[in-house]
Amino acid sequence: MEKLVVTGPTPLKGEVIINGAKNAAVAILPATLLIDGCCTIENLPNISDIKISCEILEKLGAKITWNSKNSITVDTTNIITTKAPLDLTSKFRASYYVIGAMLGRMGEIEVGMPGGCKLGARPIDQHIKGFELLGANVTVEKGTIYAKAKKLKGCPIYMDIVSVGATINVMLASVLAKGTTIIDNAAKEPHIVDVANFLNTMGADIRGAGTDVIKINGVEKLHGNATYSVVPDQIEAGTFMLAAVATRGDITLKNCITKHLESITAKIIEVGGNVQDNGDSIRVWCNKRPSKANIKTLPYPGFPTDLQPQMGVVLSIANGTSMITESIWESRFQYTEELNKMGAQITAHGKNAFFEGVKKLSGAPVYSTDLRAGAALVIAGAVAEGTTEIYNLEHIDRGYEDIEGKFRKIGAKIKRVTE
Ligand code: EPU
Repeated sequence: MEKLVVTGPTPLKGEVIINGAKNAAVAILPATLLIDGCCTIENLPNISDIKISCEILEKLGAKITWNSKNSITVDTTNIITTKAPLDLTSKFRASYYVIGAMLGRMGEIEVGMPGGCKLGARPIDQHIKGFELLGANVTVEKGTIYAKAKKLKGCPIYMDIVSVGATINVMLASVLAKGTTIIDNAAKEPHIVDVANFLNTMGADIRGAGTDVIKINGVEKLHGNATYSVVPDQIEAGTFMLAAVATRGDITLKNCITKHLESITAKIIEVGGNVQDNGDSIRVWCNKRPSKANIKTLPYPGFPTDLQPQMGVVLSIANGTSMITESIWESRFQYTEELNKMGAQITAHGKNAFFEGVKKLSGAPVYSTDLRAGAALVIAGAVAEGTTEIYNLEHIDRGYEDIEGKFRKIGAKIKRVTE
């Protein structure tokens, strides 16, 4: 078993280069199934979710060549099966994107229900509703999803809930459908725009991504033969911004899109941190104890749920009592019990958690309960006095490339140990 051992307190200082966005990359890889040919994808984060996505593509018949640790060329000329490997698709959430992509390309797919972080109920009814409106027949039996369509036909689709996954999945299914699809009440996250940009680069006709109405005019085929670079990761950038505030450090992030970080910047300034926007880099520093603040997680451009635990570390040591309202996931406060083991005073009730700010945290053995909780615990380890041991690293490794290397480069005393 592996653990991360972090000794603090350390103000984190220096430069971090932000990788490509996990949640864009895990959709762009299955989107290559819509291409009858080759394409190259750059700025891929080197994380376990990407490696599993590549294995799934290979099992379906794609040929993958690694050009470097962050770039691959995918050849999807020959698709040899419409059965996605159940053991791999159950390992992470975004495996559901093979449904939209394979319905579009092959008109058929059989895939296990997706896995991923345990954040409460994670229904996929909006995905299924979208596929059915496009003309697919979808059934779910004993944990397997069967989807089939003769020829998908574009139509208006109103999403009952703003869903990242359903917006992308329906977009994938519509690209090669006959006629026009209009997704209303679409999600607007940067990764939605990135997937649309990728598909348009390959010959799709998608307009309006990044607004709440997306129009997809079906095309005959996607041509491939192009190179695409994944958008920088908004959540990885936000994680390091909040690490600078929590540890009273000074971190400059390179390769980020500062426009995507506005909701985080606003909260950092509210708690007394400083932010300098340099266009394609951003500097965040803080030289005093953060002040209290109230946060509500919301779909983009609101404060992202995927930075809620990292913000929770900042508020756990803030001056005064803060409240976080989690409006996306039912169970995203499990990390608060781990922070309480380190001396935080947090009480979570349903959608709300109350943070009585303490002056300091103390090192303790803690468990990463999901991906972003794990990142929050690494920050907490750098804040705390003494040694923190973080277990369940498989969550962290799903979404952060070389987390200990990046934290070490900005001064954290952190090492990975195999027990
Ligand atoms: N929902 C439904 N029905 C659906 C789909 C979603 O009720 O058919 C609900 C969900 O239960 C949730 C809300 O709608 O309450 C939003 O869910 P969404 O579909 O937007 O989430 P997702 O696509 O499953 C993605 C990210 C998550 C991130 C959320 C919200 C990927 C692979 N995952 O999940 O990322 O928290 O959007 O922004 O893109 C993470 O990276 O740590 C992570 C969990």
